[in-house]
Amino acid sequence: MTDRKHILRPGPRLPRKPEKPQAPVPKAAVPAVIETSTPAVVRSDAALNCFAAVPRGAEEVAAAELEALGISGAMPGKGGVAFITTRSGLYRANLWLRTASRVLVQLAVFPCMTPGDLYAGVHAIAWQELITPAMTLAVDCSLRDSALTHSGFVALKTKDAIVDRIREACGQRPNVDTAMPDVRINVHLHKNVCTLSLDSSGDSLDRRGYRLERNEAPLRETLAATVIALTGWDGSLPLADPMCGSGTIPVEAALLAARIPPGLQRDFGFQRWLDFDEVLWNQLIREAECEIRTLPVGLITGYDLDSRALLIAGRNAAKAGLEGQIHFFHAALQAFQPEGDSGVVILNPPYGKRLGEEDDLRELYCQIGDVMKKRCRGWTGYVLTGNLELAKYVGLKASRRYVLFNGAIECRLLKYDLY
Ligand SMILES: C[S@@+](CC[C@H](N)C(=O)[O-])C[C@H]1O[C@@H](n2cnc3c(N)ncnc32)[C@H](O)[C@@H]1O
Repeated sequence: MTDRKHILRPGPRLPRKPEKPQAPVPKAAVPAVIETSTPAVVRSDAALNCFAAVPRGAEEVAAAELEALGISGAMPGKGGVAFITTRSGLYRANLWLRTASRVLVQLAVFPCMTPGDLYAGVHAIAWQELITPAMTLAVDCSLRDSALTHSGFVALKTKDAIVDRIREACGQRPNVDTAMPDVRINVHLHKNVCTLSLDSSGDSLDRRGYRLERNEAPLRETLAATVIALTGWDGSLPLADPMCGSGTIPVEAALLAARIPPGLQRDFGFQRWLDFDEVLWNQLIREAECEIRTLPVGLITGYDLDSRALLIAGRNAAKAGLEGQIHFFHAALQAFQPEGDSGVVILNPPYGKRLGEEDDLRELYCQIGDVMKKRCRGWTGYVLTGNLELAKYVGLKASRRYVLFNGAIECRLLKYDLY
């Protein structure tokens, strides 16, 4: 196993010898610290510095998911979790993480104030070991509180340094393909520190591959998975979603309970990398498939007023490999009556910003409170809403509140103990 120090500074160590006096190098041209040149990711046994990007509010949940995958020491931060793992762990993280939107593998970290700093820092990496001229690439950029302020420019400069380095090594340069690149590179500038990473996921991980059609306001799969994780539901009690729409909560719950990896039906960016280990990958898929179980009848139920949404929910469930395992009913909340003495009921009602108008929804939120109080005794209730004013109309005292984000919308997941 390679030690971490080597990963961060893998370049050969030069013997110490008296240095010839040199002309001063302009500060902007050479960053003070280049932490890597030969990318560790090309070695099968290397420890990889990774970052799982997650919706805000889901960081702790994602760290617990990594722990459950046997990847210890994950460090939750704002909008993601940093962790160190091997190639196998990287593949498993992509396959299994339910709350992460992508997993980045860090290549270099360097100070970056100017275009020259950026170019030199990117160019220092042996890109020809990662990308051949026949492959395609794309560069994503995000930046915050830095001297370089134009993300398009930073992405372009990064791309130039990469293709120049490959042309110098191979005589030809790769092309850019922003839609379906072989290698997606992520450049992130924060307080004039540039973190350069490979995006091992490719498409965002919330694209599980089961959502064939969209209803009007579907939850993001990663957010639905986060909500389920925060409820602590583990598949041993019934779970009901009385306003299930396209079924994202029931489907994500069923994937969890059936031990189906959320990424089983899709491809990942790392599968197009030069070092892709197909034998290892097939083994991980086989191991996962052996663990899948069929769900007990009635474990997970979904209800909605909208029959078209329910049709989509049924199709999504079938595409997710769960045909007949989730029971969907065309019913109004007002008639909802869960079966069994205990369980978890999760509601994601409209909240006025996207579906319906706030005035019309007050009555609905009152009814949510009534239904939970009168018909769900012994259950634990959860309401996910982006409208705190409307949430007051539930009229019950929440025993916990979690702050989550549905895209840009700040939401609350409210927990109700229903005696
Ligand atoms: C925000 S959407 C739920 C989205 C869902 N979580 C998904 O991922 O697709 C709210 C849902 O509540 C349903 N709804 C509104 N009023 C209802 C009522 N009185 N009874 C049952 N469902 C209702 C709507 O049809 C809509 O599908």
